[in-house]
Amino acid sequence: MKNKDKGTAKSISIRSMNKFFQAVHVLKDLSLEVQAGEFLVLLGPSGCGKSTALRLIAGLESISSGELFIGETNVTNVLPKYRDIAMVFQSYALYPHKTVAENIGFPLKMAKTPKADIDTAVLAAAQQVELGDYLERFPGQLSGGQRQRVALARAIIRRPSVFLMDEPLSNLDAKLRGNMRAELKYMQSKLGVTMIYVTHDQIEAMTLAHRVAVLKDGTLQQLGTPKEVYSNPANLFVAGFMGSPPMNFISGAIDNESFTTKGVKLPLPGAPKSNQVTLGFRPEDCRIVKAGSGAMDAEVYTAELTGDQVLVTLQLHGSQIVSRMPKEFEIGDTQIAGIEVDARHLYLFDSESGLRITADSTR
Ligand SMILES: Nc1ncnc2c1ncn2[C@@H]1O[C@H](COP(=O)(O)OP(=O)(O)OP(=O)(O)O)[C@@H](O)[C@H]1O
Ligand SMILES: [Mg+2]
Repeated sequence: MKNKDKGTAKSISIRSMNKFFQAVHVLKDLSLEVQAGEFLVLLGPSGCGKSTALRLIAGLESISSGELFIGETNVTNVLPKYRDIAMVFQSYALYPHKTVAENIGFPLKMAKTPKADIDTAVLAAAQQVELGDYLERFPGQLSGGQRQRVALARAIIRRPSVFLMDEPLSNLDAKLRGNMRAELKYMQSKLGVTMIYVTHDQIEAMTLAHRVAVLKDGTLQQLGTPKEVYSNPANLFVAGFMGSPPMNFISGAIDNESFTTKGVKLPLPGAPKSNQVTLGFRPEDCRIVKAGSGAMDAEVYTAELTGDQVLVTLQLHGSQIVSRMPKEFEIGDTQIAGIEVDARHLYLFDSESGLRITADSTR
């Protein structure tokens, strides 16, 4: 890809954006500054308002209140076609009776671009997504990944300043998704466009994003680099959403600078007294040891060899604890095992508000 392919990336400024569908408040006071050329991932569970946010940015839905800027321009009331945005949907929405070339060239045809210019641009865009040899095929004759790339080429060909993508990889199998992920990341940085990418898949978010915006029930929970969001989650929701398997949680109380719950007493110097806290630690930050020699004992439930690791699931007062052990680990017929937790990687949350509590001894 040559430098002339670089678009002029623009920043996006979302200012106190709200969206109501009748009485339903779907997006709540969303503010986000996306830098020019940034890859921002909007991450959250189904129904949290990700697609709605994207549709508001694209102009496909009207904003109930708040403002939207693309670059220096207030586009809050600007029609979609004047926003210099390309959107790729989850279902690629290709025209089945048009060839790959016609599908890719469609936006330029609509813009009444001369045919010779369209042909040149189509070839260039198709080559960027490695579909140069497939121009005469129809979508029905392509694999899922190839169709995805047609949709991508159709977006690229307009040289937009901003790309919006709504779960574009969710129809692909795991291997292809991995490949396309790498390709997308490469393409975004080469084209230098601003990208807002929606997914509910935290692995996609971790691998693709410069920064991740975590959304729950239409409210922004945290904005940060993947590393920040993973290792420094703002609250219980973010902590539980990032990571697979997710963070382990045990509820209990803080008394005398110790975390206590039935059969467990774990010193946490500096932790403030509280009746309702949740202790969190990640599967990679705890180890299975002999019963009686760890921070707590728990009942062994299952051990699964996933190839490069063994995931051991234990039961502690009805909650499940997962420990990620090396692939050589064998649980044998152990029924009760000890769990040793890495004291440097403990998290503490207020169970009611979900907010992080920091103490000398927690992260
Ligand atoms: N046109 C509409 N009219 C009324 N409610 C809507 C409309 N579109 C979306 N909603 C509601 O808004 C909420 C957010 O929907 P949205 O599609 O943005 O979620 P999402 O985060 O993209 O979810 P998913 O991951 O399942 O795609 C949902 O509760 C949905 O039912
Ligand atoms: Mg959606």
